[in-house]
Amino acid sequence: MALLKVVYYSYHPALHKIAEPVTQFDEKLAKFVEDMYETMYHENGVGLAAPQVGVSKRIATVDISEERNKAFVIINPEIIERGGEELMEAGCLSIPGTYDKVPRATFVKVRAQDVNGQFFEIEGNGLLAHCLQHEIDHLNGKLYIDYLSPLKKRTLLKKMEKFLKREK
Ligand code: NI
Repeated sequence: MALLKVVYYSYHPALHKIAEPVTQFDEKLAKFVEDMYETMYHENGVGLAAPQVGVSKRIATVDISEERNKAFVIINPEIIERGGEELMEAGCLSIPGTYDKVPRATFVKVRAQDVNGQFFEIEGNGLLAHCLQHEIDHLNGKLYIDYLSPLKKRTLLKKMEKFLKREK
């Protein structure tokens, strides 16, 4: 396994475009998904989308468990049901050091493929629903700050730049 490099807003075009569907369910894909799990845990994320490591493919990993041992992958995911709406606190590994509230459906049902190409459905409320929407947004080139006003967006991006300078 290998750690992948997480790219930041807006240092990589993959973050801002519609990712390509996965058509080959092979060894190479399986290895990439393992690397995404490792990277998600290393970065302490509840989710990671392939565009965040510079790969424009419709793949995302999720683990919202406290124990950090219930990771799963959604490949070519689609939201097939949604319900409710609430403002939820969002953060993103690609916009480190920033948080804000964004509108999200309270409930979603998602149809996706696993690493072998098998279709499955997953549904959830609250954090799981939020996380699924956040990751699927990534696959459509959308980040949480895109829901905010241009002013708020600029403020958060400045905050991120300060955060990154401190990190160095
Ligand atoms: Ni994110």
